[in-house]
Amino acid sequence: MEMESEKLVQQFVEWVGKMPAVFRAPGRVNLIGEHTDYNDGFVMPSAIGLGTRVAASARDDGQLVIRSEQFPGEFKFDLDHPPGHRTGSWCDYVLGVAVVLQWAGHSLRGANLWVESEVPIGAGLSSSAAIEVACALALMGLNEIALPKVEVARLCQRSENTFIGARVGIMDQFVSCLGKAGHALLLDCRSLEFELIPIPDRVRMVVCNTMVKHQHAGGEYNRRREECEEGVRILSQWYPEIRALRDVSAGQLAEHEKDISEKIFGRCRHVVEENERVQEGARRLRAGDLNGFGALMRESHRSLRDLYEVSCGELDLMVEAAEGLPGYYGGRMTGGGFGGCTLNLVESSHADAFVEAVARRYQQATGTKPDVYICSAADGATVEVNRAD
Ligand code: GLA
Repeated sequence: MEMESEKLVQQFVEWVGKMPAVFRAPGRVNLIGEHTDYNDGFVMPSAIGLGTRVAASARDDGQLVIRSEQFPGEFKFDLDHPPGHRTGSWCDYVLGVAVVLQWAGHSLRGANLWVESEVPIGAGLSSSAAIEVACALALMGLNEIALPKVEVARLCQRSENTFIGARVGIMDQFVSCLGKAGHALLLDCRSLEFELIPIPDRVRMVVCNTMVKHQHAGGEYNRRREECEEGVRILSQWYPEIRALRDVSAGQLAEHEKDISEKIFGRCRHVVEENERVQEGARRLRAGDLNGFGALMRESHRSLRDLYEVSCGELDLMVEAAEGLPGYYGGRMTGGGFGGCTLNLVESSHADAFVEAVARRYQQATGTKPDVYICSAADGATVEVNRAD
């Protein structure tokens, strides 16, 4: 048993007096393909070594009891009469999953869930998807519900969309379920077909946290989604067959630049070109062309900054701080934006020096000391301890 798991089990036994089962789901980085998932497009995330663990045991009284060492308080909900939408606390990410499992027709026994997350919250590394997926596995385990991982990802996305009210795409939950060590996961977010592409051993993914927290349930993310829908509505006057920006080609979009406001045109152009970058990125990664892949990451960042407008001053500074450092192939903001982290591809022999230099440059520019993590692509969600009393 891993050290962290052992400690969690001990705490749980002191709390409930029973042995729990333990489930773990990872956070993620996205190599390329940002704000494309809810446009039915392509993404290329990897799961990372930071994850969320949930220790769980069943209760006979139909109550869902949730706690964590990281957050104060203990939360108790009656599963016969759960709230229909978010309550405004972190435990919504747990409760929402229970509620959507019930909506999907699964009956749930009561449960004690102790949640511990290593994924920094609000840093763009999908702490919420990690909590959701780990809790989904826990509730499924306690109730002997067997579902394919793709279905688990869908359920967790539904919880965010309907229970939490953030209209996120499927990327984070999907890779938290199905990521594979040493690989990037190229996902078609319409068909949910995917390909695992090996990431060369000699490269590390260095994640740099600007320490600026983002908030998804907040308006900007949902607004971007509406702007994309607006683009589809306008373009479908000429192209009635398009269902999402995924169906629009660069040529079709260029043809109607004058018919669309500058803002909506920029949003559409980012999505159309980002989808192309993911396809090209997949070709380059398969060929082991890391310099070529890095160049696409830089383009992606510029597009997110200038056309999609989801970057922020600190993210731009962090991307600039990496330029010119030895062993650096390329980097960009990763995740939803408005704060959070950059992802940098760095030759492994240079990774330690890179961490030191990038942190120093960022601190000089902003006065803030960033957290920096050297990551490799990790496996998706698993059962860590199988037996519960
Ligand atoms: C968040 C969402 C994802 C995706 C990214 C942006 O992480 O959860 O579904 O839209 O933002 O690419």
